[in-house]
Amino acid sequence: MQDNNPIPPAPPAPELFTWEFATDPYPAYAWLREHAPVHRTRLPSGVEAWLVTRYGDAKQALADQRLSKNPAHHDEPAHAKGKTGIPGERKAELMTHLLNIDPPDHTRLRRLVSKAFTPRTVAQFAPRVQELTDRLIDAFEATGSADLIHEFAFPLPIYAICDLLGVPREDQDDFRDWAGMMIRHGGGPRGGVARSVKKMRNYLAELIHKKRENPGDDLISRLIEASDHGEHLTENEAAAMAFILLFAGFETTVNLIGNGMYALLRNPGQRERLQDALAAGDTGLLETGVEELLRYDGPVEMATWRFATEPLTLGGQDIAAGDPVLVVLAAADRDPARFSDPDTLDLGRKDNQHLGYGHGIHYCLGAPLARLEGQTALATLLRRLPDLRLAVEPDDLRWRGGLIMRGLRTLPVEFTAAP
Ligand code: HEM
Repeated sequence: MQDNNPIPPAPPAPELFTWEFATDPYPAYAWLREHAPVHRTRLPSGVEAWLVTRYGDAKQALADQRLSKNPAHHDEPAHAKGKTGIPGERKAELMTHLLNIDPPDHTRLRRLVSKAFTPRTVAQFAPRVQELTDRLIDAFEATGSADLIHEFAFPLPIYAICDLLGVPREDQDDFRDWAGMMIRHGGGPRGGVARSVKKMRNYLAELIHKKRENPGDDLISRLIEASDHGEHLTENEAAAMAFILLFAGFETTVNLIGNGMYALLRNPGQRERLQDALAAGDTGLLETGVEELLRYDGPVEMATWRFATEPLTLGGQDIAAGDPVLVVLAAADRDPARFSDPDTLDLGRKDNQHLGYGHGIHYCLGAPLARLEGQTALATLLRRLPDLRLAVEPDDLRWRGGLIMRGLRTLPVEFTAAP
């Protein structure tokens, strides 16, 4: 008898890390979630790693203490040593930071920094973020066009974090240049990036020295003073902490603003809904909206590296000790088993426990600052440039195509110039 409903063969596995993938990885992630939810693949650097794409598995992996953040657990072939792009392989002092360590060191350092970097510190910073945002828009408002990445999303978080740390205004453009070098040539530890990291490290070491002598009302001074059961951060730990705050809080926020604004421009109904709510003085939709933009196309495509310290099973897949594991937050946050209509942008989405800020003990320390910057940036752009529109076809936009981060290289826009 003829079978009228043959089971269609599974479509072939998608190619990962191509140009098409960088532009739109979501169809490939849908395939992986369905057919190979814990999938071993060779990364562009040559390292083999497991990609975890289902929401349930991702959440479990992020909280699993058998998955270490310490790159010393990576069972890496001798020939690949130092060439994989795994950050902690650079044995620099700056790399002993929260994202590269496990308890009990992590617990101690995180507790200390949490005393200095509190939600209250961030809330007090709101007027300054608004002022920075307005100043950046003032600079291009009369021209009728801008590249929102270069002229807006990129400088905003750098100036904000420098201010928060206590880097004097006259030195902040140096940070802008060093950070620009890191974002343009990110991923590789060599050349200009290494020089920029070194300059930043020397600068921070000197600044910490100065603040020890002469404390101010800033985060570096509070980091130096913070103590826990009589314990203080060493100068090296304070420098590594300042560095990770800059590093973790910079490109992520650039991409929250860039990806977020791009998603709003591509979804005019949702953008109008937000503009109407803001015009009516309702900020509730802005708050849920920024969370939804993080879920829908968040800045951190894959959580930072984890390494199995012992053999374990995840999503039915055996993983050997020493294997690297990458939790794909972007895939988990589009899992239809967790989110209804996951590919639809719904700024008012309820029950939106996305993994954009991670989960477990490494949950983003800077989430309150990121929310403040994201909400201020998007609301101010929509209010001051109400007819903002893309100046190029979406197909002409280029994505950076890094491993951990997802973001646009440029976002050219047009609007009616201010008189
Ligand atoms: C950790 C996302 C902004 C500081 C993380 C993690 C994610 C994340 C996913 C966990 C990584 C992992 O488990 O592998 C984001 C996003 C941001 C953002 C999407 C912007 C929209 C910031 C800002 C700061 C910051 C503004 C600080 C100024 C940190 C730090 C950690 C972290 C210090 C490490 C915490 C730990 O290991 O205990 N972030 N982040 N982040 N983030 Fe953020």
